[in-house]
Amino acid sequence: VGDREAIKRIAYEFVEDKAKEGVIYVEVRYSPHFLANTKVDPIPWEQAEGDLSPDEVVHLVNEGLREGERAFNIKARSILCCMRHMPNWSMDVVELCKKYRHEGVVAIDLAGDESLNCEANPGHRRAYEEAVCCGVHRTVHAGEVGPASVVKEAVEVLKAERVGHGYRTLEDQDLYKELLAQNMHFEVCPISSKLTGACDPDFTKHPVITFRKDKANYSLNTDDPLIFNSSIHLDYSTAHKYMGFTEEEFKRLNINSAKSCFLPDDEKEELLHRLYEAYGMLQSTAF
Ligand SMILES: *[C@@H]1O[C@H](CO)[C@@H](O)[C@H](O)[C@H]1NC(C)=O
Ligand SMILES: *[C@@H]1O[C@H](CO)[C@@H](O)[C@H](O)[C@H]1NC(C)=O
Ligand SMILES: *[C@@H]1O[C@H](CO)[C@@H](O)[C@H](O)[C@H]1NC(C)=O
Repeated sequence: VGDREAIKRIAYEFVEDKAKEGVIYVEVRYSPHFLANTKVDPIPWEQAEGDLSPDEVVHLVNEGLREGERAFNIKARSILCCMRHMPNWSMDVVELCKKYRHEGVVAIDLAGDESLNCEANPGHRRAYEEAVCCGVHRTVHAGEVGPASVVKEAVEVLKAERVGHGYRTLEDQDLYKELLAQNMHFEVCPISSKLTGACDPDFTKHPVITFRKDKANYSLNTDDPLIFNSSIHLDYSTAHKYMGFTEEEFKRLNINSAKSCFLPDDEKEELLHRLYEAYGMLQSTAF
């Protein structure tokens, strides 16, 4: 926090870690305000005022990711988080998304404690309206610990295109059916959901098993891999070992992940092509 060199290096090493995990495309999210120590009110983590603004944080992360992409030959994009308890940062976040859209920032997110404002604060709402207006992609953490109503609001009010976690959507079957019908994408994080207590620690009862059964649109992701000392392998191997996931399902969900990514269409096609090629599916899908 507040350390230019560290911020850039963490972004760079993040790409290195993902490349080593066999990832070819990744979207990473963070709150620029949490890493800054000026032009952010209040200054987080009880820091003294310094000279690193959220804007410069985004610039540094972009640089780190770009250098990582070149060094490790994979593609990395970023998503900037608004924080639920800081509605007055949100306009700033969407402006940063707009400013840096050609430098690797692909979307806006809303993260943090869902219990704080189930009714999205006007600050978040305005930021998401601006995002819709300007064609900035949108995802929202919802239904991880908060009730299904938070998911409903994320989709209907904030116009989220993807739902972060979304497990508790299952508590509102009407909403769940609606989201299935509109192919809403759920960003599922198995290891995280156990460690945070969001889901039953018994993986055989995990909501993603229902998502799979219903052929929902979802991805498997890490969440805070540094804090949880985890990697994407652990999420996949857990799904395999405890939830009966097969190679076929991994392919299906990886393809849905790629289809639901926030890259521009041409780059998305290219990513999908690489997956189809790797999975030996080129014939059936090219036309
Ligand atoms: C933003 O919100 C925080 C938390 O409620 C508050 O402490 C701060 O003074 C606000 N800043 C501005 C500029 O309104
Ligand atoms: C998931 O969403 C993507 C992007 O909208 C879409 O292309 C894909 O068909 C969806 N998959 C399912 C299973 O609904
Ligand atoms: C983190 O995980 C790795 C690989 O599983 C393990 O070797 C290492 O000891 C772990 N580190 C900590 C601090 O738990």
